[in-house]
Amino acid sequence: MPHVTGRHFLQIPGPSPVPDRVLRAMSQQVIDHRGPEFADLGLNALAAIKSIFKTQQDVIIYPSSGTGAWEAALANVLREGDRVLMYETGHFATLWKKMAEKLGIQAEFIGGDWRSGVDPAVIEEHLRKDSGHQIKAVCVVHNETSTGSTSPIAEVRRAIDNAGHPALLMVDTISGLGSVDFRFDEWGVDVAVSGSQKGLMLPPGISFNAVSRKALDAAAQGGTRRSYWDWKEMLDITGKGYFPIPPRPTCSTVWSMRSR
Ligand SMILES: Cc1ncc(COP(=O)(O)O)c(C=O)c1O
Repeated sequence: MPHVTGRHFLQIPGPSPVPDRVLRAMSQQVIDHRGPEFADLGLNALAAIKSIFKTQQDVIIYPSSGTGAWEAALANVLREGDRVLMYETGHFATLWKKMAEKLGIQAEFIGGDWRSGVDPAVIEEHLRKDSGHQIKAVCVVHNETSTGSTSPIAEVRRAIDNAGHPALLMVDTISGLGSVDFRFDEWGVDVAVSGSQKGLMLPPGISFNAVSRKALDAAAQGGTRRSYWDWKEMLDITGKGYFPIPPRPTCSTVWSMRSR
């Protein structure tokens, strides 16, 4: 075992090092997740996270890894047999596509070279061919952690609009959020998926879905049968600062956000 001097500094694409003040905040005793103190902290955290996504719309916090928030995004708006357009930017785009297929969603996968981000012109071309509007969502990875390539999300939105297509824009910004520019409202994103352990420098185990009004409407009319991931169930209670499940990791987020 080599002798390592100095402080351990984690240098991988994430999980990223957790600042001391966050670690200290997390060591506080668990509080009553149904008590008024938690509700205050919950409301603060839910308001604060919106500014990170640069949105005025709803953000849902899940006690899960980013993979859970991927599934939540798909399950709330898509049902078995629905078609989506996905783009092969690297390992994580490929995993998201595999997940979609496991859920019975038909994923059309635009091939990529694992060296560059998405080409919005190719997305536009595919959508123009879908004159019957069978494609329900365009799913892209903002920052492909496996390669470091970043995709131009605002241009993907423009491509969808130029094609006159109603598909939702769903974006995995798990390693993008807090690391590179991301603007949910300005860029017209419908669902953003993120996680705690990359740009936010929190421990793994907390994930996010930011959702537009259009995505919430789609969820009200469709999606897969769901319970734990259900946006409506979450939003009905998080509006008061609480969560439907005992949220130990969420407690930690709330504490650590307060410490910032
Ligand atoms: C871009 C991207 N998407 C999805 C995931 C999966 O998230 P998690 O490992 O938190 O389940 C990761 C994890 O590294 C990722 O970098």
